[in-house]
Amino acid sequence: MRMVDIIAKKRDGKELSTEEIQFLVDGYTNGSIPDYQMSAWAMAVLFRGMTPRETGDLTMAMARSGEQLDLTSIPGVKVDKHSTGGVGDKTTLVVAPLVAAAGIPVAKMSGRGLGHSGGTIDKLESFAGFQVERTREQFFQQVRDIGVAVIGQSGNLTPADKKLYALRDVTATVEAVPLIASSIMSKKIAAGADAILLDVKVGKGAFMKTLEEAETLARAMVDIGSQVGRKTVAVISDMNQPLGFAVGNALEVKEAIATLAGNGPKDLTELALAIGARMLVLGGLASSVDEGRGRLEEIIASGKAVDKLAQMVEAQGGNKRDVYEPDRLPQAGLTAQVTAQQDGYLAGIDAETVGHASVVLGAGRLTKEMPIDLAVGIVLHKKRGDRVRAGEPLATLHANDERLLQDALKDVAEAFAYSSEQPPEQPLIYKIVE
Ligand code: URA
Repeated sequence: MRMVDIIAKKRDGKELSTEEIQFLVDGYTNGSIPDYQMSAWAMAVLFRGMTPRETGDLTMAMARSGEQLDLTSIPGVKVDKHSTGGVGDKTTLVVAPLVAAAGIPVAKMSGRGLGHSGGTIDKLESFAGFQVERTREQFFQQVRDIGVAVIGQSGNLTPADKKLYALRDVTATVEAVPLIASSIMSKKIAAGADAILLDVKVGKGAFMKTLEEAETLARAMVDIGSQVGRKTVAVISDMNQPLGFAVGNALEVKEAIATLAGNGPKDLTELALAIGARMLVLGGLASSVDEGRGRLEEIIASGKAVDKLAQMVEAQGGNKRDVYEPDRLPQAGLTAQVTAQQDGYLAGIDAETVGHASVVLGAGRLTKEMPIDLAVGIVLHKKRGDRVRAGEPLATLHANDERLLQDALKDVAEAFAYSSEQPPEQPLIYKIVE
């Protein structure tokens, strides 16, 4: 087999065989296929697309390119959750302990933040002493003992995807839907998921800017799931404005704890229940979404959801007091407010702008190596559709550097759009694809 023939076949819009796809993934992973040939192939895919069968084959070849977790020693249906990334998206911090308290085993690998969207692993490190690197045995044992563990992604998982994603990033081929879908799904499958719940974000702060794009990606991933025998459901949710009020690591952890205790923002609570209830259905612990939701609401009211997070924090080296007394979490030294420039209604809060401002403050990183400040970030006081009066606080910025604070203040002020009339309500969840 020759890579040049595979490139030509895809260039001409023909369907590649399972063997051809295996050959290119193997060859690229072991270095016998060079970057320039893989780039040409990725560009051909961008223009020509891939059939569901090809996309399924690519996913499985990438999933098999490195370590694959075998979670069979953990009893129960392992349901993984993945978000395509957003601003203020702390849903995993809520959903993981919540569904674990309901009996779904959660053995989850999560990522760090990059660019304007944050990562669960960084947020968890707001708990002093929290260990995100565990041996396989420690990871599995913790899930067997308390039902939940969230750790950093193994370096050996899907090396083919790691290499291909880096190449796509510099060859303008990230946007190819079959490549995005197989990239995400290969990681979930290699991480051992029996079933997968996807939160596909759509809007200004998301990778997918339109509902149509988000639906195409969601459909591609759900189809891959059914091709490869992993039941997959996608929730398409709004990322035009940040989720909840808090953006920034420790600030988001505090908001997640409040949500687990039943005192969280309406949108975050609603999304966590919608996702969690569907995970219960996927795991066979509820026969309908309504039943699952009712169960999760009871767990929140009973205090068991917060207790589960406390157990997880303790099992991974942190102090559970930080969960019950969140003021012990990192706090920034400086604060400043952005106030409303006029009377009226908030027509929008640009999630991407707020995300970038949080990076300016030091809450996120622009390169993988950048250190982050866990304490800093932004807390909104108003959301889209709220009535505001000139001079009223719209957001509080938490910072540890006066110059960065001044820069971020300007950015955050620009994130708010005003209107003299109340804007129409925007859905939080646009669609469920299954
Ligand atoms: N996230 C991924 O993991 N892969 C992509 O290709 C895009 C977003």
